[in-house]
Amino acid sequence: MLNIKNIAAFDNLRTPFYYYDMDLLRKTVERVATISRKYGIHVHYAIKANVCKPILETISAAGFGADAVSGEEVVHAVSCGFPGSEVMFAGVGKSDREILAALDCGVGCFNVESLQEIEAIAELAAKTGRIAPVAIRVNPNIDAHTHKYITTGLNENKFGLLESDLPKAAELIKSKPSLEFKGLQLHIGSQITDVDSVFELECQRVNEIVENFEKTGLKVSNIDLGGGLGIDYDDPDGNPVADFETWMSVINRTLKLREDQTVHVEPGRSIVAQCGNLIARVLYVKPGTTKTFVILDAGMNDLIRPALYGAYHKIENLSAHYLRNDEDKECAYDIVGPVCESSDVWGEGRILRESRRGDFVALRSAGAYGQVMASRYNLHEFAPAVYSDEL
Ligand code: LLP
Repeated sequence: MLNIKNIAAFDNLRTPFYYYDMDLLRKTVERVATISRKYGIHVHYAIKANVCKPILETISAAGFGADAVSGEEVVHAVSCGFPGSEVMFAGVGKSDREILAALDCGVGCFNVESLQEIEAIAELAAKTGRIAPVAIRVNPNIDAHTHKYITTGLNENKFGLLESDLPKAAELIKSKPSLEFKGLQLHIGSQITDVDSVFELECQRVNEIVENFEKTGLKVSNIDLGGGLGIDYDDPDGNPVADFETWMSVINRTLKLREDQTVHVEPGRSIVAQCGNLIARVLYVKPGTTKTFVILDAGMNDLIRPALYGAYHKIENLSAHYLRNDEDKECAYDIVGPVCESSDVWGEGRILRESRRGDFVALRSAGAYGQVMASRYNLHEFAPAVYSDEL
C-alpha cells in the first residue's frame, strides 16, 4: 500500500493529482550514485520521463548529467541545475531552432541519428562560430524483448544509423572542422526486465561495433549505452528501487573498455517511476449487468500508458485502507476514467477494497511517462504535482 503519513492532508487538494514521494526519490538517487560510482559509469538522467523541477533539482544535485530529446528539454535541464556540458541532446528530428538553442546552452554532445543531421549541425555550428560535440547513435539491431512501441534498437525502428552507414558518417564528421567527435551511443528500448541477458547482448554488440568503427580512424572516447532498465509495476512496495546493481555490473563485466574511454547511461523510468503516483477520487460506483464499474476522476488524459500500451499500473484504495480499516472486504471491479473513449480503462476485473464515492485511489508507479504525457483531452485540467515534502 502506498505509504502516506497523513491522508487527511489530501482532503483539501483537488483531484486528480500526481503525488511524489520525495524520500523514495532521494533513496533511489543515492543508490544510483553509489553504484555508478563503484563502476565508474556516468549517469545522464533521461528527463523525458519526468520534467518536474523539484525532481530534476534533486537528480542534478547528485551530480548526474541529463539526456534531452528536444531543444526545450535541453534548456529546461540547464535551468534545473544540470551543467550544459553534461547534457546530451538526442532525437531523430532536431530542428534548426533546437540545434541552435542547444549550441547556446553548450551541450556536451549531440547524439546524431542521420547523415543529413550531421550536415545540419556542422553548418549551424560553423555559422555561429562554434565547435559542436557529436556522437553517432547506432542502431544495433537488437531485440530488447519489450513492448513493440518502446523497442528502439531494431532495423525496422526509425532510430540511429545502421552499422553499414557508420564509415560514411565517420568520413563526413572528419570532413567538418566545426564538429568534434565524441563517441557512439545506443538505446535499445525501455522497460527491459530481462536485465542480465538483454544488456549483456547490448554490450557484446557494442564491443564488436566499437572494434569495427575504430578502423575509420576516429577515436571513440565515450560509449553511451542509453537507458531502458525496467521497474516492478506489479510490486512497487516490494521493489521500490530498480535493480541498478545487476544492470551496471553486467555493463562492467561485459563491456571491453580502453583506458581512456568512459561509459555513459541514460536511465529515465528506473529513477522516477516508483516515486510517482496518480491520486484520484472515486466519482461513482456503478453496477452493470455482469460487472461493477468504479469510475475515477482521473482518465487517460492524465496517464495514457494503459490506453496506449495496455500498461499495468497497480491500483489501491487508500481511503479503505487508511480510514476504514476494512481489510477483508474486497470486490472485483472494472476501474475506468471519465473520458469519452472506450480505451479509458485503468483495469478490468481488478480486486480492490470495497470502494465508495469520494474514496482516494492511487495508481502506482506513475512517476515516469505519466505527467509528461498528459493532455487536456475533453478539456480536463492538467493534474498538478504534489510533493511529499510539502505535506
Ligand atoms: N535514452 C533514449 C535515447 C531514449 O529514447 C529513452 C527513452 C531513454 C534514454 C530512457 O529510457 P528509460 O530508462 O526510461 O527506459 N513512453 C514509454 C517509454 C518511452 C521511452 C522512450 N525513450 C512508456 O511510457 O513506457
